[in-house]
Order: sequence, then structure tokens, then C-alpha cells
Amino acid sequence: MSASNPEQDVVEQAAAVLRRGGLVAFPTETVYGLGADVLNLDAIRNVFHVKGRPPDNPLIVHVSGTRQLDDVVDEIPDKGKMLGEAFWPGPLTLVMKRTILVSDLVTGGLDTVAVRMPDHPVALALIRALGEGIVGPSANLSGRPSPTTAQHVYDDLRGQVDLILDAGPTTIGLESTVVDVTVDPPMILRLGGLTRERIEEIIGRVETDTGGNRTARSPGTRYRHYAPRATVLLVQYEDREAFASLLQEQRQAGKAVGCIVHSPLLAKLESGEFYRVLPSSIEIFARHLFRTLRELDALRAEVIIVEGVPEQGLGATVMDRLRRASHG
Ligand code: TXA
Ligand code: MG
Repeated sequence: MSASNPEQDVVEQAAAVLRRGGLVAFPTETVYGLGADVLNLDAIRNVFHVKGRPPDNPLIVHVSGTRQLDDVVDEIPDKGKMLGEAFWPGPLTLVMKRTILVSDLVTGGLDTVAVRMPDHPVALALIRALGEGIVGPSANLSGRPSPTTAQHVYDDLRGQVDLILDAGPTTIGLESTVVDVTVDPPMILRLGGLTRERIEEIIGRVETDTGGNRTARSPGTRYRHYAPRATVLLVQYEDREAFASLLQEQRQAGKAVGCIVHSPLLAKLESGEFYRVLPSSIEIFARHLFRTLRELDALRAEVIIVEGVPEQGLGATVMDRLRRASHG
């Protein structure tokens, strides 16, 4: 179905599947989600089962307006309101105090709930048609790169989802930014499609705790993530020497080596099916990253050498994902 103009009868059919407790994979502007009715506990259990997801890793509730928001969120702090007004619908997830309507299954027993309003007409139409929030983790097997096409969902979850709504490739290609607004200053728990810089333009200073050293307040960031089957090796932006010697070393070890580069310096170094040059625009790099990792996997690359990106704006999110993918 077309991304801009969802077919209403298909959307109604998908909502009916959700209503009877089924699972529907749906497009958003970030990545595809694995949807279930937020009020159907059996369906939610099935989401964890199908993904192979640890039960203490809570789910995001997708809403299309204030009605579903009020159902699940007890209290919206001022800075949460400001961020919602500025960036919803969009790639921002807010963690807030939950209502008693939200099951422990959704939140992993936490007293907060993560909510977002996706910027995609098909997702919004589906939520409206159901009339309730839709829980939606990324529709990949736990630990794999998030799906940016319906085909990726099919590759990971074939036979285990009732319906996959295909609206073409997602535009952002990385997951939403998760911000806990129950604390002040608010805390970024997962870097994502909305940059820290843009958030700080609206509410001033925020802190970041994406689970490295301290408490891992966002349970999901504790687990290995975003990883293709191949071993990912990361080199610095434009570090031609490190790149070339790593490539030679891996080839000498007899490995099938895939590469993802983008600086003009490395773009010219080699060519071929295993050598992927992504545009240097960080938005386009981000959009194609997960897809390219999956493609090199499908070609049976055993090692993927990736050239890092400058760490600002969306580049910070890209580097976060690449580090997680490379720390097996
Ligand atoms: O872009 C996205 O966010 C996609 C699309 C489908 O909306 N969804 C997605 O969901 O990436 P998932 O389940 O793969 O990631 C949800 C993240 C996890 O890191 C989880 O730990 C965190 O949100 N999270 C959920 N509820 C939370 C809560 N109450 N407190 C802290 N972190 C929470
Ligand atoms: Mg995920």
C-alpha cells in the first residue's frame, strides 16, 4: 500500500486482526513495528514470544492522539508536553508515569510507560481504526538489526505474524529517541532518529544514560542489539590506513569480508558487491545502514568492516548502533 495514502479497507482488516488478539507488523517513519492491542495480554505475551525478547525489556505504546495518550499516561510533565508539541508525530518516545490500565507485561513491571506518536499515515490510521494504543517493538528477531522494509519483517518473523502491512522502506531507518521526562533534567535513554541537539533547543539541557556504565535505566539497552550475523569491525571516519590493514588482515585469514564506507577517501578504494558505498549525507547513511548490514549478511559476509561517522547530530545515533553491533 502506498505510504502517503493508506487503503482504508486494508487498515480496517488489520485492525480487526489486532482486535481478535493477532499480530500485525506495521510501517512507521523509523522502522517497522510488531503491533498488538495494548489491552490484549495474550497478544502481548505473543509479541515477546515471537521476537524471542526478554520479558524485562518493556514495550513502546504507539498512540495517534490525546485520547489513547490519556489512557496510558498518568501525568505529563511540562517538558514532556513541550517535546510532544514540538516533535509528535515523530521519532521521539517519552517515558512517563503510567496509569493502572497499562499491564506489567508492557512495562516489565516498571511504574513508567514509554509512548510515542509515529509520523506515518498507515500507523496512525491503524491506531485510529483500533481505537486503542498499539504496543510495537521493532519487528525483528531480538538482537538483529531493526527492519526497515516489509521484506525484513518477513525474513525474521515469517509464519509468526498474522499480517504485514507493506508501505515501502522507512524514511529514517533508525529507531526513535527514548527520553525519560519523569526526571529533571530529562534523560535520554536511547539515542535515535531525533537528535539531542534538537531536543535541547526546546527544553534546554538533557542528560544521557544509554546503559553503558551506570544503571541501564532503559532495560533494552542492556542486550546485544542491531547486529547482523557477521562480525562487525568499526574503523574511524577517513582512517584509510586502519581500514586497509584490517581489510588485508581479514582477507588473509580467509574471511569473506563486506565493507560499508562513505567518505570520498574510502569510497574509491575498492568496488564490487561486497563493497558498499553509502552517501556521505548522514540522513541517507542512517536510512540505509540496517538494510545494508542485512544485505551483506545475505551475501554470507563473515566480517563487515564499517567506516564510522562523525559523532554529531544523527551521527551520534549511528555510532551508538555500530558500537552495539560490533561488541558481540
Ligand atoms: O522507533 C521505534 O521506537 C520503534 C518503532 C516500531 O516505533 N520501536 C522500537 O521498539 O524500537 P523497541 O521495543 O525495539 O525498543 C523500545 C525501547 C527499548 O530500549 C526499551 O527498553 C525502552 O524503549 N523502553 C520501553 N519502555 C520503557 C520504560 N518504561 N522505561 C524505560 N525504557 C523503556
Ligand atoms: Mg528493537
